Amino acid sequence: MSASLFDLLHESHEIQRQLCRRLTAARASTAQREQVFLQLKVELEAHAAAEERFLYVPLLMTDPGLSSSRHALSEHHQIEELCEELSVSDKQGEAWLDTAKRLGEKVRHHLKEEERKFFKVAGRILDVDKKDTLGRRYQKDLVRMRKKYAADYQRVDVSSAGEVVAAPR
Ligand SMILES: [Fe+2]
Ligand SMILES: [Fe+2]
Repeated sequence: MSASLFDLLHESHEIQRQLCRRLTAARASTAQREQVFLQLKVELEAHAAAEERFLYVPLLMTDPGLSSSRHALSEHHQIEELCEELSVSDKQGEAWLDTAKRLGEKVRHHLKEEERKFFKVAGRILDVDKKDTLGRRYQKDLVRMRKKYAADYQRVDVSSAGEVVAAPR
């Protein structure tokens, strides 16, 4: 049996949480933060794209799913803007770290809201077959989009298992 749509979405959420923790860890050097930021950015962008296409677009088309999907898409946009703000060449200093912390907080808030609220709404709206189909299509698109975004940053790669990893120097 294939993994459920929500289990698959959750797998990426855990990767995002772990990368957010590493991004603002007190011991991290600037070089480590830069590398972790790129990995996080790839994961956030790839997950948001696949999740929008295979969860929120179908939800948006239903009356009971309209409000949740709008809310989620707006948060994806806010997260994207924070990533843009952090995509500067100088990643040293307090200001950059403060923005990185804001990104971490925003991401954690968004994931919690999805898991506690939006996925529950989706669970009631989508039938079993639909969830199964969307889960498979989401996962395929996630891996494809990770590769696409990772290719934009020479220091990030995607493993044969489809996970975002630091590229060998
Ligand atoms: Fe999301
Ligand atoms: Fe998500």
